[in-house]
Amino acid sequence: MFGRIDHVGVAVEDLDEAVELYTTRLGMPLQHRETVEEQGVEAVLVGVGDGHVELLRPLGPDTAVGRFLQRNGPGLHHVAYGTDDIVSAIDDLRKAGLRLIDERPRTGIRNSRVAFVHPKSTGGVLTELVEAAH
Ligand code: CO
Repeated sequence: MFGRIDHVGVAVEDLDEAVELYTTRLGMPLQHRETVEEQGVEAVLVGVGDGHVELLRPLGPDTAVGRFLQRNGPGLHHVAYGTDDIVSAIDDLRKAGLRLIDERPRTGIRNSRVAFVHPKSTGGVLTELVEAAH
């Protein structure tokens, strides 16, 4: 079902400061910066081999990442697994009895298709499925 870990998502309060940390001090290349309205975030991807770290700054307090920051402060937010067929991956997870946040894929960064699985059914880890744009 999953080919690889696509990225880990990190919630941040100051995106420029986080970019400086990951690029200058951790030495990862900046690959992409985009506002993803549908997810209420401004996001930056830095590269790690074939995968990424996705730095997420909420567009407002009343967004998923905004609420996460208020509850937990900055830090690890989600793990994203890559799949070639997100619709059947969603179907497989539903059949496996997992609680889905998204019953259908929605648009993610770089025109990917993404869907989230509720952390209550994945041992406390917010889990994202991602199918890259073709
Ligand atoms: Co993500």
